[in-house]
Amino acid sequence: MNALDIAPRLITLEGGEGAGKSTVLSALAQALRAPGYEVVTTREPGGTPLAERIRELLLHPDNADAPTADTELLLMFASRAQHVASVVRPALARGAWVLSDRFTDASHAYQGGGRGVDRTTIAMLESRFVGLQPGLTLLLDVPVAVGRARAQGRASSNSVQPDRIEAEADGFFERVRSAYRDLAAAQPRRFRMIDASQPAERVAADAVAALDDYLQGLPQG
Ligand SMILES: Nc1ncnc2c1ncn2[C@@H]1O[C@H](COP(=O)(O)OP(=O)(O)O)[C@@H](O)[C@H]1O
Ligand SMILES: [Mg+2]
Repeated sequence: MNALDIAPRLITLEGGEGAGKSTVLSALAQALRAPGYEVVTTREPGGTPLAERIRELLLHPDNADAPTADTELLLMFASRAQHVASVVRPALARGAWVLSDRFTDASHAYQGGGRGVDRTTIAMLESRFVGLQPGLTLLLDVPVAVGRARAQGRASSNSVQPDRIEAEADGFFERVRSAYRDLAAAQPRRFRMIDASQPAERVAADAVAALDDYLQGLPQG
């Protein structure tokens, strides 16, 4: 199995529903663009037209023929393989920064922690079909009830129904949160944990401070 290459200019945001990832992503993009860097913002599942179609398959609230845990895992990695090959790698190759709203850690948390897929299988898919790891991952950590209340507020103000994964029970999201915290504890150099229960401005400020600190520690160039 190949080792993962660390991509210093790939930064990912992780966390449960309503943690504030989309909100923080724009603050980080702004902070990186200010000194003139090219920044590509993207998300998973999705990030390319084909991967966005796979996202629709994954999130469609169809209970009659819902994907099994294995199907969900493979669709997630199909979407990710396409995203890595056609967006992430080309951007990194030309020297751009890539900010992704979720990446492989989300499979460890959701398919691993949430659905119970074993770690070795996910690590094998990661090694074979992703091959790279972010230099920095911000984990926006928030109690499940707080995140869900925010996500519900967002959904009702846009008049949208919860998607298939958002409709899971609290126990599922507690396992996801706990898996994320375990990942962060196991890889303290890559992860920064942010208290996302704070007001949005504080969360964004903490995220930008973590980014600045990371940039200080990088070799020049
Ligand atoms: N720190 C915060 N405090 C209160 N509300 C927040 C905070 N961060 C985001 N929100 C709001 O909560 C909802 C979910 O935020 P969002 O950024 O979409 O979360 P995510 O992308 O992690 O699911 C949005 O309506 C957003 O405006
Ligand atoms: Mg979001």
